[in-house]
Amino acid sequence: MAEVVIVENAEAAGALVAQEIVELIDGRPDAVLGLATGSTPLPVYQALRERLAGRDVSQVRGFALDEYVGLDPAHSESYRSVITREVVEPLGLDPRRIHVPNGAQETIQHAGADYEEAIDAAGGVDLQILGIGTDGHIGFNEPGSSFASRTRVKTLTEQTREDNARFFDSIDDVPRHCITQGLGTILRARHLVLLAFGEGKAQAVADAVEGPLSAILPGSAIQLHPHATVVVDEAAASKLALADYYRYTFANKPSWQGI
Ligand code: GLP
Repeated sequence: MAEVVIVENAEAAGALVAQEIVELIDGRPDAVLGLATGSTPLPVYQALRERLAGRDVSQVRGFALDEYVGLDPAHSESYRSVITREVVEPLGLDPRRIHVPNGAQETIQHAGADYEEAIDAAGGVDLQILGIGTDGHIGFNEPGSSFASRTRVKTLTEQTREDNARFFDSIDDVPRHCITQGLGTILRARHLVLLAFGEGKAQAVADAVEGPLSAILPGSAIQLHPHATVVVDEAAASKLALADYYRYTFANKPSWQGI
């Protein structure tokens, strides 16, 4: 099962995950990070900003999970823009080493295969940061996604469009399609770190960690991964049946073990 770490707040989660990433980069300067968008990973990027300051991160590589289809990459809410603004610029990464799926309509037929090739050529993702949608989606793998899926075009659910409408002037501006790493792609990363905060995510977290493996809850795919860490605040942990056991396990974890 995934290791569940219940922390006090999002800031503590950010510090914990950032520490793991710093250690990864220390051991492997050209580490491949799997980058996620959404509000959830922001405390990680914030903590990384402080911890990576002054270090050489010029070799670090990164792959974003997903992108909207047909949205101008220059649009402030394209995931290309978000990753540039929230991650690449503040952390001083080399933009040429940071990849985002290409959502351009003209090349969309082979954009998924191209992205898979690029991930393979980089030797795979070392640490994949994940958020989770209220309906249990990870990346943009909406309910029903195959556990074996690779990077491809998906249709966003109305729920996801509504959730993400806050970033746009109106819901009509939220694209209907996206290109996302598949669940099978995500499962190939060497370490998955899923974060979730707030009561609104509690059900999705409980279903992903403790529920049955099911395409209806794409996040449950993390149960198939040999090294998955779920970092949640108390509110997001509130529906976990084994919360006390997770607390006990973490409190008694050997100090030499990272997350
Ligand atoms: C979007 C992203 C997901 C993210 C989800 C949750 O749909 N494609 O990667 O996990 O939103 O977003 P938030 O972290 O803002 O709750």
